[in-house]
Amino acid sequence: MKLLLQNGTVVNGQESGKKDILIDGETICRVEENISPEEADEILDLEGKLIFPGFIDAHTHFDLEVSGTVTADDFASGTLAAIAGGTTTIVDFATQNKGETLKEALANWHQKADGKASCDYGFHMAISDWNEQTFAQIEDMIAAGVTTFKLYMTYPAMKLNDGEIYEVLKRLKDMGGIAGVHCENADMIDALIREAKAQGRMDADTHPQVRPAQFEAEAVHRLLVTAQTAGTPIIVVHLTCEEAYREIEEARARGQEVYAETCPQYLLMDDSLYEQGGPEAAKYVISPPLRKKKDQECLWKALKEERVQTVSTDHCSFTTKQKAMGKEDFTKIPNGMPGVETRGTLLYTYGVREGRISLEQMCRLLSENPAKLYGMYPEKGCAAPGSTADLVVIDPEKEAVITAAAQHYAMDYAPFEGTKIKGCIDKVYLHGTLVVDKGAVQVEKAGRYVPRKKYTAPR
Ligand code: URP
Ligand code: ZN
Ligand code: ZN
Ligand code: ZN
Repeated sequence: MKLLLQNGTVVNGQESGKKDILIDGETICRVEENISPEEADEILDLEGKLIFPGFIDAHTHFDLEVSGTVTADDFASGTLAAIAGGTTTIVDFATQNKGETLKEALANWHQKADGKASCDYGFHMAISDWNEQTFAQIEDMIAAGVTTFKLYMTYPAMKLNDGEIYEVLKRLKDMGGIAGVHCENADMIDALIREAKAQGRMDADTHPQVRPAQFEAEAVHRLLVTAQTAGTPIIVVHLTCEEAYREIEEARARGQEVYAETCPQYLLMDDSLYEQGGPEAAKYVISPPLRKKKDQECLWKALKEERVQTVSTDHCSFTTKQKAMGKEDFTKIPNGMPGVETRGTLLYTYGVREGRISLEQMCRLLSENPAKLYGMYPEKGCAAPGSTADLVVIDPEKEAVITAAAQHYAMDYAPFEGTKIKGCIDKVYLHGTLVVDKGAVQVEKAGRYVPRKKYTAPR
């Protein structure tokens, strides 16, 4: 079956323009002006619409056990929300529990995801237990298409110390893998938590006070020294603030290869949301926390100048009831917020429409760069002959308001509730199949596991 998408504006990382796309089965076979309708079995007119390669969200946490509970979204609801939002591929964090092998952790994550996903999915492997067996099994992970790794400098259950991070990076250097790292100074956070508790400051509004920007910046600096010593490239995940960004720029000036990711919440929300305290503040208890307006400006500028390469969501959702586990003690609030469904439309509305980034930059941030960095390019990440027909069609003039009720995830609140968007998801194709039409999901659970190649550098 050959499908011709006519008259849309095709947006790629390098250029955009009015072109037709001919899809043959699961694959794009031509992207050109005026493809003859005779070549196709079916024709669709997309005049006035934008067509992007499917968005990739390389930072989700579905079906993750943390803080004595499990995320509200599993792979079924999380990937349903993803596809409804134009994300055709997610890369989730398979997480090694202490005492577990990497192979066991990967098998566990396949069990959580296989057969349930409505978009394609891959896994990073979060290393929490660094020992000889973990060292040996990194090779098995890469063979299984898990070519990227996650390391935490905080969270007791998953944290590695600096020496261990150095050893992991050395091993990844030999194996051609790359790591993304959560950077915060764990010891200092613990000290400020003890201090807050001693002073009786137990409400959610204390959360940002014990995790200030300088603790993130210090950890980024320390990580970059470690990566420099190991001689490896590195990815700083969920970058939130100017202080940490400066550390990355300093390392680049020293000649280091450093990539950075940020998230819509750090671009569009600030720490004034914590001032309301109680359950409202608990919704925004994420780590690292929301920062200041000046940090948002810094991050938008860094996107424009292409010093930050990807915008992912860090979707890690807990209902208001789960958040209430910490109503007497903010350290017991499960950390994280949802976001997988709203990333594309938020970036289009507040990035492209407001002139902060170009259409092509949006494509690079959401599609091309994650495809390269996470080993899926050019099968994914571009709308070009030979690529998989994962496509998102946006109606740029359609307006909507974000509400929890309209979302597909298993959540009772939306962090961006009431936020206006202009530019809505109209259609989504997942390997050539129309899975979303007029904004409504038509086909569920068509997602497949994506074994990934070794990373390549975004431009
Ligand atoms: O608060 C957050 N971000 N929770 C998810 C886990 C992480 O740190 O990425
Ligand atoms: Zn993190
Ligand atoms: Zn420094
Ligand atoms: Zn995360």
